[in-house]
Amino acid sequence: MTRDPRTSVPVTVPMLRAMKSRGERITVVTAYDATFARMLDEAGVDALLVGDSLGMVVQGRDSTLPVTVDEVIYHCRAVARGTRRAHVVGDMPFMSWQISPEKALENAARFLAEGGAHAVKLEGGVSAVPTIARIVDAGIPVMGHVGLTPQSVHAMGGFKVQGRTEDQAERVLRDAQAIAEAGCYAIVLEGIPSDLAERITKSIAVPTIGIGAGPACDGQVLVCYDLLGLTPELKPKFVKRYAEWFAEGTEAAKRYCDEVRAGSFPSAEFAFGDVKPTGVATQAGRTPQGGYGPKA
Ligand code: KIV
Repeated sequence: MTRDPRTSVPVTVPMLRAMKSRGERITVVTAYDATFARMLDEAGVDALLVGDSLGMVVQGRDSTLPVTVDEVIYHCRAVARGTRRAHVVGDMPFMSWQISPEKALENAARFLAEGGAHAVKLEGGVSAVPTIARIVDAGIPVMGHVGLTPQSVHAMGGFKVQGRTEDQAERVLRDAQAIAEAGCYAIVLEGIPSDLAERITKSIAVPTIGIGAGPACDGQVLVCYDLLGLTPELKPKFVKRYAEWFAEGTEAAKRYCDEVRAGSFPSAEFAFGDVKPTGVATQAGRTPQGGYGPKA
């Protein structure tokens, strides 16, 4: 069901929790700038995650580890400006919450106060409980994240599916239950077997949002670049590409190059015409709506 962001009420934490009770699936997509946010919001996406995945898809790094709080906040501000209805979540990057609950709270507050986010997300299980409790206690909603946690890429020995053995599965289940108990309002389940995600989803009261965790989760999240086919070299099993923008963009840019080189762009249709006698000329400039002023 597509929702019109101009007529729908903004999505809140209680609304997301109520969606689980009603068995209504939650849609989450990552966003990093105002234009993508506007597009995804118009499409009726319930929540936009300003993920630290920006380090990989926007900055071209090979992990999320170098991403800073200032960088995520910068992208949060842009996403918040482009959003009317969706719930906006800022991802707490590596070492922004692990040092101490006080440092974590200080950073979490910045996502809301400076970034315009409605909530923060952090990757962690049982050991993150005191930190989550401290942030939640201060009135900041926290989305949890367990299973494959990319900030622990080196400890995991790569981006590998977690919880495949019974022992590991028990650990992921305990992590999810502990952070739900600590006050998380939703939990991302990443890279775990589908039956484990189903067990977790049935055992906690708050919504689970899956990525590579199968169909039983209360919602799903995808990285917008993956969903739109902007990362053609990556083909993880859990990603469905709903468009092929990299191929389309390459083709469009090639046509542009061909036309510029051939001198067929810009044609008269895309040019402002000749200088008029003094007093008649009008000003052509960019308008606040993003269009251009009158053609001279
Ligand atoms: O950073 C991110 O984009 C994420 C999602 C993939 C859940 O954490």
